[in-house]
Amino acid sequence: MKQRVLVASNRGPVSYQFGTDGSLTGKRGGGGMIAGVTSGLAAVAPDADVTWICAALSDADRAAARQHGTGSRDEDGVPVRMLDIPPDTFDRAYNNVANSTLWFLHHLLFDTPVQPQFGHQFGRDWAAYLAYNEAFAEALAQEALTAAAPPADIRVLIQDYHLSLAPRLLRDKLGGGTGTGIAHFHHTPWAPPDYYRLLPAGVGQTLLDGILGADHAGFHARRWAAAFLDCCEAILGAEVDRAADRTADGSGPVGRVRYRGHLTEVAVHPLGVDVPALRARARAQDVRDHVGTLGLAAGGRKLIVRIDRTELSKNIVRGLAAYRELLATRPQWHNRVVHLAFAYPSRSALPEYRAYTDLVQRLAREICAEFGTADWNPLILEVKDDYPRSLAACAVADVLLVNPVRDGMNLVAQEGPVLSEHGCALVLSREAGAAATLAADALLVNPYDVGETADALHQALVMPDAERQRRNAGLVSRAADASPARWLGDQLAALGG
Ligand code: G6P
Repeated sequence: MKQRVLVASNRGPVSYQFGTDGSLTGKRGGGGMIAGVTSGLAAVAPDADVTWICAALSDADRAAARQHGTGSRDEDGVPVRMLDIPPDTFDRAYNNVANSTLWFLHHLLFDTPVQPQFGHQFGRDWAAYLAYNEAFAEALAQEALTAAAPPADIRVLIQDYHLSLAPRLLRDKLGGGTGTGIAHFHHTPWAPPDYYRLLPAGVGQTLLDGILGADHAGFHARRWAAAFLDCCEAILGAEVDRAADRTADGSGPVGRVRYRGHLTEVAVHPLGVDVPALRARARAQDVRDHVGTLGLAAGGRKLIVRIDRTELSKNIVRGLAAYRELLATRPQWHNRVVHLAFAYPSRSALPEYRAYTDLVQRLAREICAEFGTADWNPLILEVKDDYPRSLAACAVADVLLVNPVRDGMNLVAQEGPVLSEHGCALVLSREAGAAATLAADALLVNPYDVGETADALHQALVMPDAERQRRNAGLVSRAADASPARWLGDQLAALGG
């Protein structure tokens, strides 16, 4: 009997677009989480009977959901069930709760003198978040209850902060003791209790209780798992056991929580890179063409590269300020360095993100005006998403800057060194989950300290070749250790194989 694996996430592995004739075409959905799950499943459960449940995100997705029912497939042939959640419910759940509240909470992004404000509007948003999670739990329960596999051979992998309530809702629908294993994985940081308490009390409790409906709750880094355990204890009064085993590299179980008669194992599973697959992709002609173009743009100068979504937590503004400080305090770099900053569109439905994008563009113009000369453009800012060009930038980078104010893991910090052709140096925020695995070979910085970041950029630029190569090899090996196969395999194993 084949193992049945059900994956649930807001964004799925396929997204649809209307052609000019109204026809629908599907293309691969982007993002590290999707790549991690897809590549992990292919490696460790190639024969499993997989269904991926996700939300319809656009009108074209909704049309596809209605047209195909449960019969969509992604590019790898995995059945995809897109949920046609009413647009107003989806908007409130995704934009207002998941992205404006939970994302801000776990990344400590609130402008606390004025934000957040939980009034009657939030009550409607919260009801929508509940309905959205209920739709996922209902679909998962249907898939589980109609599966040919016995319940003990069914594994449910629920992803991220959009779906914090789904594990509990699903457990209630399946009834206790069926043996179906439920895992939840949180791809963001987790807020410490004092900050978590910004949420209305009932909301904070319900979110924790929601995740504790799972048998296994995963995080990318020990810090986030520890903060989750702290919240379970401080906010729910749950029984927390932190004495569980853990492995030498910090991955594996870090505790167990007993709440409402159910035991949830809390564990760390850092997500790294499928090195052979990524390198194979970077050998394709579209990437090679960009390598040539970027090389010409650099004109033999050193390249400092950053690649991010234009996301508040990514700290692009302070990254640009650090580059400005480097040029202001160390004129020896004038005309000898170029900063390639890729800041791709993200969540433009939210006003904070639109304002942030404007600020990034203004700062970039100011830096070019302040330091640029007839034959030197110190900064190239690209705001149009281009995946092959991003891979090419990693290949040619001398220095990679990854300075988020807070980040669940961060894949760019791992993909960059893997693709780098002459061994780039990594300047990395200590507040990224990836800092836990990469600390030995990165130059770690306090992301708020622009002066320290500028110093680290300088240090990275002058790092002797042998040291850079040695550190780069260490970064690649850590990224490879946390392969998607291991990330996903360990979660399936924790559910009983
Ligand atoms: C990042 C985070 C994920 C999250 C995703 C959502 O990639 O690391 O935790 O699921 O953003 O982004 P979206 O564009 O779908 O809102």
